[in-house]
Amino acid sequence: MKSTILLTGGAGYIGSHAYLALVDAGYHVLILDNFCNSRPDVIDRLGRITGKPVDHIEGDIRDAGFLSRVFADHRIDAVVHFAALKSVGESVVKPLEYFDVNVGGLVTLLGVMNAAGCKRMVFSSSATVYGIPDKTPTPETAERRAMNPYGQTKIDGEEMLEWLQASDPSWAVGILRYFNPAGAHASGLIGEDPRGTPNNLMPYIAEVAIGQRPEIAVFGQDYGTVDGTGVRDYIHVDDLGHGHVLSLAKLLETGQGHLANLGTGRGYSVLEVIAAYARAAGCELPHRIVDRRPGDVPVYCARTDVAADLLGFKARHTLDDMCESSWHWTQSSLSDGA
Ligand code: NAD
Ligand code: UD1
Repeated sequence: MKSTILLTGGAGYIGSHAYLALVDAGYHVLILDNFCNSRPDVIDRLGRITGKPVDHIEGDIRDAGFLSRVFADHRIDAVVHFAALKSVGESVVKPLEYFDVNVGGLVTLLGVMNAAGCKRMVFSSSATVYGIPDKTPTPETAERRAMNPYGQTKIDGEEMLEWLQASDPSWAVGILRYFNPAGAHASGLIGEDPRGTPNNLMPYIAEVAIGQRPEIAVFGQDYGTVDGTGVRDYIHVDDLGHGHVLSLAKLLETGQGHLANLGTGRGYSVLEVIAAYARAAGCELPHRIVDRRPGDVPVYCARTDVAADLLGFKARHTLDDMCESSWHWTQSSLSDGA
């Protein structure tokens, strides 16, 4: 019988792509989202892509009564937990909201899962837990250091899950630390959909390419990198989705938890990303060097051997794939008013 997976935050950027990967792998998936950072029409779009109805339920992970009813009404075998707030800058301004959703919401969800006897979870963590790493490519054994409230909530989540597994070995959690997710599904129907001014590089470039913004501000050209600009390990969101399928399969098969980076192991500078996007969009992308962004890290790059050895994970998509699919999504979302 097919396992049933509760996908929290399944209408969001990474969650919607993971939905497709999980359905493709044969799981029955129930999306739970409160749409605080996504649009309800993502559900219809997922249905258009799969050609099947999408099981979903609107609600908040902080609502224990609601969650208990979801677990009473469905036989859930595992949870893939994406629902969280994710803006670093906003977390500095509103730390309590970040702790409430990212830590409080996780406590509530785990309590309900425990009571229901559902003890398998894949957890969205982030390379941000490494702070400014001593070493790149960065291994999973590197020290965790919070640079801001958002990063602290991910460290708190990881530690809570580790203590939970230590207290009760029948729990098994896959903690996945994503590097820089980018790109979109080939259909052009789903993708990253930031509200207001994008904080992250790729969606900002997309808005310059489509003519919504005049130029890209490049944050510093005096780092000790290939061309002086910041280097990141960009990973295609479809590869991330596949990583979740592998993590989940491992948990269900072995009953053992794991912790792995999800990246490509290869970093690209800001100027290299702009050049790749310009190729994809077939136009010049105006940019200007400005001061460093406070708190920025010179280089983030993943050690990928744990994900490869433990999960059999290898990112398949290139930076060009990420730019081309992002461009396709940007054009189609503009033309159909998404
Ligand atoms: P997103 O904002 O697009 O998706 C998160 C989804 O969770 C949204 O649909 C939102 O409506 C939902 N949600 C938020 N709070 C909720 C609540 N209280 N109850 C129910 N639903 C709620 O973000 P994303 O980029 O898809 O990120 C998904 C996960 O991956 C997050 O945990 C994030 O911290 C983590 N992550 C993201 C990145 C990144 O760069 N995008 C990098 C590393 C880790
Ligand atoms: C951001 C988050 C981090 C999160 C990661 C993945 C911050 C401070 N950190 O980091 O917590 O885990 O995304 O989602 O927000 N850049 C420009 N101009 C821009 C935007 C970015 O030059 O307009 C540069 C940055 O200086 C950096 C690179 O592009 O060198 C990537 O930036 P960004 O997309 O914001 O990702 P991270 O800095 O890795």
